[in-house]
Amino acid sequence: MKLIHTIAELRAELGKYQRPAFVPTMGNLHEGHIALVKQAKPLGDVTVVSIFVNRLQFLPHEDFGTYPRTLEADCAKLEAAGCDLVFAPGEQDLYPEPQGYKVTPPTELADILEGHFRPGFFTGVCTVVLKLFNCVQPRVALFGAKDYQQQMVIRRMVAQLALPIEIVTGATLRADDGLALSSRNGYLSPAERAEAVQLSRTLKGMIVALQNGERNVAAIEQHAMKTLADRGWHPDYLTVRRRHDLQPPQAGDFGRNALVVLGAARLGSTRLIDNLEV
Ligand code: PAJ
Repeated sequence: MKLIHTIAELRAELGKYQRPAFVPTMGNLHEGHIALVKQAKPLGDVTVVSIFVNRLQFLPHEDFGTYPRTLEADCAKLEAAGCDLVFAPGEQDLYPEPQGYKVTPPTELADILEGHFRPGFFTGVCTVVLKLFNCVQPRVALFGAKDYQQQMVIRRMVAQLALPIEIVTGATLRADDGLALSSRNGYLSPAERAEAVQLSRTLKGMIVALQNGERNVAAIEQHAMKTLADRGWHPDYLTVRRRHDLQPPQAGDFGRNALVVLGAARLGSTRLIDNLEV
């Protein structure tokens, strides 16, 4: 496995390959990331993972400064998973000058849910992902279902900009109790870690209500928000949406395989997100 820091080195190295399979990350890797890498391996002739904590997708009050940077441990995990190239550019390598050109995703998809609570987040994500795509020029790129809205925003970007890249979505990897694996789980105290499972439990409760025939989506959402708030969480949203556009469901949308429940909530100072397809 090779560790590469500059775009020039990356381009030189990738010259030998035709079909890079690419997993972009911000590092502090866990089994969820590693599952994507293993899924990527058979899809290309070289497996490339990027590690870059992207300043553009953090708001000033968010955790850009404290986001864990664990390159050595990450590389050990990637080597064991069969990764071929790790692209870990420094800030100066990827953003040698302020990034004035940006990708603005459509407001109806990118300014709702995560984009509502983290304004500009998906502009930051799309901008860095397009730039990373231009560096790696992958044939296939993998994203986790854990960040449901993110993989949708990227899929639309790739389609609308006619990028010659296949987007593959990997299933969300969870701890035994059901908590979705996340780099941010490391911020949780032991008591918070025990409580954190309530996010996925609450989403499951919303699915059960839908499966039991409840069609009052607002009531399902309010109940879920209250359930977490009563336990001391600060929920941003717990919501039932259509899978294809993340808009609220209409009467005809309650058929099978049409809906997803998504949630974001703060536990102490840690913000967690999760989702489950209905
Ligand atoms: P990061 O949070 O490091 O996640 C990198 C990839 O791993 C994303 O596609 C994410 O959805 C996936 N992932 C995270 N947790 C997962 C889990 N429990 N199961 C399966 N996949 C999981 O997402 C980002 O970085 C950034 O926004 C990025 C796309 C790299 C742009 O900066």
